[in-house]
Amino acid sequence: MSRPALLALAAVAALTGGAASAQSLTAVQARGKALFEGTCVYCHGPSGHATGLLRRRLGDKDALLAERTNLTAPYIHIAVRRGVMSMPTYRRAELSDADLASITEYLIRLNPGGGSAQ
Ligand code: HEC
Repeated sequence: MSRPALLALAAVAALTGGAASAQSLTAVQARGKALFEGTCVYCHGPSGHATGLLRRRLGDKDALLAERTNLTAPYIHIAVRRGVMSMPTYRRAELSDADLASITEYLIRLNPGGGSAQ
């Protein structure tokens, strides 16, 4: 297939793919999703301990991190590097800046005003 045809297909996929569709993720967001699932979902998955605490503190809408529409890059950075409530912190040796930036790109994908993770 020619390159313009491939680009056109990619554009159609981007327009028709919903937020929940894997195809609508950029490469960095897809990497962030994989890292999030490997590192954070243990507590932030649907039946995770943190999800339960966030539901109690913020309500159903904001319980699941991966579906939040109001997370910002600076807030995620602070939560992960310094901790928020009982959230454990991650040092750079445990989670590199590049990996945190990818996770952040994934978590702010539903919040266009969420800032830049770079
Ligand atoms: C060992 C469990 C655990 C793991 C693993 C974990 N978290 Fe958390 N996280 C928590 C807890 C507990 C809270 C605070 C919930 C509360 O008290 O409201 C929290 C809160 C947060 C918040 C703040 C949400 C808000 O609106 O205040 C962010 C952002 C966050 N975590 C991001 C992450 C990311 C990104 C990762 C993976 C790199 C991660 N967490 C891994 C337990 C965890």
